[in-house]
Amino acid sequence: MYGLINRAVKGLVVERFGSDAWDRIRIRAGIDEEDFISMESYDDSVTYDLVAAATEELGLEASTILEAFGGYWVEYTAVEGYGELLNSVGDTLPEFLANLDQMHARVKMAFPDLKPPRFRVSDESEEGLMLHYFSHRPGLAPLVVGLVKGLADRFDRPVEVVSMRVGEGDDEHDAFRVSYLPEGSSH
Ligand code: HEM
Repeated sequence: MYGLINRAVKGLVVERFGSDAWDRIRIRAGIDEEDFISMESYDDSVTYDLVAAATEELGLEASTILEAFGGYWVEYTAVEGYGELLNSVGDTLPEFLANLDQMHARVKMAFPDLKPPRFRVSDESEEGLMLHYFSHRPGLAPLVVGLVKGLADRFDRPVEVVSMRVGEGDDEHDAFRVSYLPEGSSH
């Protein structure tokens, strides 16, 4: 994945646990460079190794780290030059979620080797919606939970997010039931 992702992983760790913790995680993951180049493509194993090393150094589950990273990513991209793009994706949470593929298509103009996931919205109602997630990368469903919660915060729209596997055979994939909570409730 592009270095932008690994830079954000570093940003999250440094912000919450300090730069010593980051150095221990980086070294445990076998990464020599002090930093990542946003526009350079790194092997996916770099990101996976960082998450694995972080679980060991911090004593946290991978799902906890990935979910926290999802929330952080929404804030990080907003201040790292993608705020306008985020603003243009949608004015409401459901509109934004329906336009995720268009958003990554625009990101791909700046990151030509991008291999973005695909998303599809179904079962939209007053109560919520289902978000379907398709990726060739395994194990990232908790990341999407954190992303959706981060977006919900951005729109001040409290939600509950439940992760599940749906579909059969070739169509089996991760999906998320996003339920709107009453205004003012926290998740
Ligand atoms: C403007 C903000 C955003 C930018 C610049 C961006 C960019 C990227 C980049 C560079 C990657 C790594 C993929 C690669 O290098 O091949 C990625 C992956 C990903 N993005 Fe975004 N993204 C943004 C917002 C979002 C949002 C709001 C979501 C919400 C669902 C999202 C969902 C994902 C997921 C789940 C992945 C992991 C890769 C996978 O599932 O295969 N992104 N994105």
